[in-house]
Amino acid sequence: MLHDPNRVYVFDTTLRDGEQVPGCQLSTSEKVEIAKELEALGVDVIEAGFPISSPGDFQSVVELSKAVSEPIICALTRANKGDIDSAVAALQYAKRPRIHTGIGSSDMHIKHKFNSTREEILERAVEAVKYAKKSVEDIEFYAEDAGRADVHYLAQMVEAVIAAGATVVNIPDTNGYCLPDQYGSKIKFLKENVKNIDQAIISVHCHNDLGLATANSIAGLQNGARQIEGTINGIGERAGNTSIEEVVMILKTHQVLGLYTNINSKNFYELSRMVSSQMRMPVQPNKAIVGSNAFAHSSGIHQDGFLKNRENYEIIRPEDVGFPDASIVLTARSGRHALKFHLERLGFNLSKAELSEVYHRFLTLADQKIDINDNDLLAMMGKQLLA
Ligand code: KIV
Ligand code: ZN
Repeated sequence: MLHDPNRVYVFDTTLRDGEQVPGCQLSTSEKVEIAKELEALGVDVIEAGFPISSPGDFQSVVELSKAVSEPIICALTRANKGDIDSAVAALQYAKRPRIHTGIGSSDMHIKHKFNSTREEILERAVEAVKYAKKSVEDIEFYAEDAGRADVHYLAQMVEAVIAAGATVVNIPDTNGYCLPDQYGSKIKFLKENVKNIDQAIISVHCHNDLGLATANSIAGLQNGARQIEGTINGIGERAGNTSIEEVVMILKTHQVLGLYTNINSKNFYELSRMVSSQMRMPVQPNKAIVGSNAFAHSSGIHQDGFLKNRENYEIIRPEDVGFPDASIVLTARSGRHALKFHLERLGFNLSKAELSEVYHRFLTLADQKIDINDNDLLAMMGKQLLA
């Protein structure tokens, strides 16, 4: 298949890696509801579950396969026939099925998880891909813990699984270990040293243990990867996965990278709230792109600059991610300009001297109350009007 070299495919794993988080488990119908919204968002792949892990997960893959038609539906397996058979059965209704199979690639995993050798693991990887390929054309292979794997062995593994039929090779930083330049160099090495690499898409799957998941994903894309894996709100194992909304908005904001996705970014805010409420996982207020404070300006200096020209303090327009609107929050750190803005909005046009007087009363109130809302302002002005 020919791919536009600048197009980045988005692989959503909210319903698999995200749903593994304790307390985030969803019913099949809740998963279907989210999957339909992911389809509307424009993701290319939905990882619907790990069918062998439980009857519920199996059923979810079946129902998601029936409910969505545009994105590829992907099912996770380990590198063994039982897992693959279960995934094939669960994907029977998928219009565009994908099997995501794989095995550990770091010496740590090879020795201490599989009690095995590099040679044996390589054989198991190839066998799994060949076996899955008999039933499904689109096979993604994950080299688990690739972030800590020896890059020469990783290259050998990637070359062998592509030769066996893998269409996508996923290079996960499973433990969120890498620095961005280390991860980027790993992808570059594969791009330059695996002789059949052009027959597959390189995918990046990063965890956030050191807070670097998004930075590492971008480094991977800058070095030749063309699929990014992540979740809405960055939920996922331990400190989470790369957050899709962050990667998409980075590519939009930094067009100099020359990369684009098919995502309708205006759907982000609503989907973020849906995922948060269904998974009972609050979004931290300062979360990039979708946090409640992501477009709130509260200090006097910022508010003044924002009111003169919003681009002074706004690199993304809130409406581009479906955010209700930027807000000027009134606190004890706000200046006269912000107070004037809100009073005018409420119909009070004050002279400079009047504003000065009201501002002092506002500061007294704001010292006592964390957030000042419209009712507080009206009450404050009422007092003044009555006086
Ligand atoms: O983090 C990881 O390595 C994974 C794989 C199963 C893809 O989630
Ligand atoms: Zn993962």
